[in-house]
Amino acid sequence: MGKKLLLQHDHVPGIHTLQVYRDHGGYSALRKALSSMTPEQIVEEVKTSGLRGRGGAGFPTGMKWSFLAKPPGVPRYVVCNADESEPGTFKDRYLMERIPHLLIEGMILSSYALGANTSYIYIRGEYYYVANILEMAIAEAYAAGLLGKNILGSGFDCDLYVQIGAGAYICGEETALLESLEGKRGNPRIKPPFPAVAGLYGCPTVVNNVETIAAVVPIVNDGGAAYAAIGVGRSTGTKLISASGHINRPGVYEIELGVPVEEFIYSDEYCGGIRNGRRMKAVVAGGSSVPILPADLILKTSNGEPRLMTYESLADGGFASGTMLGSGGFIVMDEDTSIVKNLWNFTRFYHHESCGQCSPCREGTGWMEKILHKILDGHGTLSDVDLLWDIQAKIEGKTICPLGDAAAWPVASAIRHFRSEFEEYVKRGSSIRDVKHYFRLNNLPEPVA
Ligand SMILES: Cc1cc2nc3c(=O)[nH]c(=O)nc-3n(C[C@H](O)[C@H](O)[C@H](O)COP(=O)(O)O)c2cc1C
Ligand code: SF4
Repeated sequence: MGKKLLLQHDHVPGIHTLQVYRDHGGYSALRKALSSMTPEQIVEEVKTSGLRGRGGAGFPTGMKWSFLAKPPGVPRYVVCNADESEPGTFKDRYLMERIPHLLIEGMILSSYALGANTSYIYIRGEYYYVANILEMAIAEAYAAGLLGKNILGSGFDCDLYVQIGAGAYICGEETALLESLEGKRGNPRIKPPFPAVAGLYGCPTVVNNVETIAAVVPIVNDGGAAYAAIGVGRSTGTKLISASGHINRPGVYEIELGVPVEEFIYSDEYCGGIRNGRRMKAVVAGGSSVPILPADLILKTSNGEPRLMTYESLADGGFASGTMLGSGGFIVMDEDTSIVKNLWNFTRFYHHESCGQCSPCREGTGWMEKILHKILDGHGTLSDVDLLWDIQAKIEGKTICPLGDAAAWPVASAIRHFRSEFEEYVKRGSSIRDVKHYFRLNNLPEPVA
């Protein structure tokens, strides 16, 4: 059994309430921090822990915190990114719905460490009921003197607000999130300046993922060194993985970073193997934005070593044969899965969610969706596959925000590893009736000719 730092009490009845959370050690990190640690000491512990942002990019949290500008007389903000809209990712929802006080305690600790007296949790619109859970927990925290003025008699003041988004994936991109929080359309900003210098209302701001902020609680409780002792190399601590697809035990798992991918997929402690005794065909390891890998490449690195659930091991082989840990949205596909149909589904999502500011993303995602639809419809040609490749290459790295890359990588990797499947569709010219049947079966809107 791996060590758990975030979900060790997730099944305790009533753990969403302040009383039960406290009965299980809750808010001890906050007491410790406010009574015996300076803000700088907390930042140091976070640096020592090696914690990396759990929102997708894996940027070192302590380093991000140390970039925060501190001009005198200017407010600073801590903003929690609870937008969680990456297909295949549902870990933040689980954490907030089960143990809302863990996030709240992490928010107060982070706000104290960074000198923020006003902080926000920006949550996606579809998580309305989770926002209610958070609001109830925040009300409990205010009533107990854990939020508001002079928290626990320390002299530190902090107000925490929940802001509900309107259900746009792009508002998970941190600068689009800040625009939305300011009441504007959620368009990503051109960087620099980065939020650490000019974020919310033009003030220095740290934006961190739900899981990242929750991890500050065990780091303060046990010390950064204890956190860093878990994991492998620069992938320290534990990570929440949302496991879905054709596996026997889908769900949210807290793993120690470094678990072999094979163990994660096949052991009964985690995914429990492939459903119905089927063979595994492919895995999307870190949410829909990361490259898809075929079964052999997800299990082994380029030198034949077992691949591990770490940032480095999953990325081994670069774009040729590697992928990314990303947000930890682990989607397993069995041998009956059509990679082309799956890719069409992902691409449709990115086209729909593009904010439209950059031509390569706005137009390119639409073109890729149309071409994939044409191939699925049985009207594709071999040159369409080359055209798809060409379009994704013209999006990657040429846009204001990484949504463009996120749309390009699944296409590039699907063609790289499963080109023969695209060619098969072209050669077979699959009949529209079959496709319509597929869409009906999967409760998807039928393609329009
Ligand atoms: C299109 C897009 C969507 C994103 N969605 C999320 C999200 O839902 N949650 C999240 O934490 N980060 C998301 N990110 C990453 C954020 O921009 C940012 O890197 C992250 O919130 C930083 O927190 P971390 O350092 O704790 O990971 C998204 C990025 C992009 C480009
Ligand atoms: S890459 Fe796409 S989502 Fe990002 S700013 Fe450009 S158009 Fe908008």
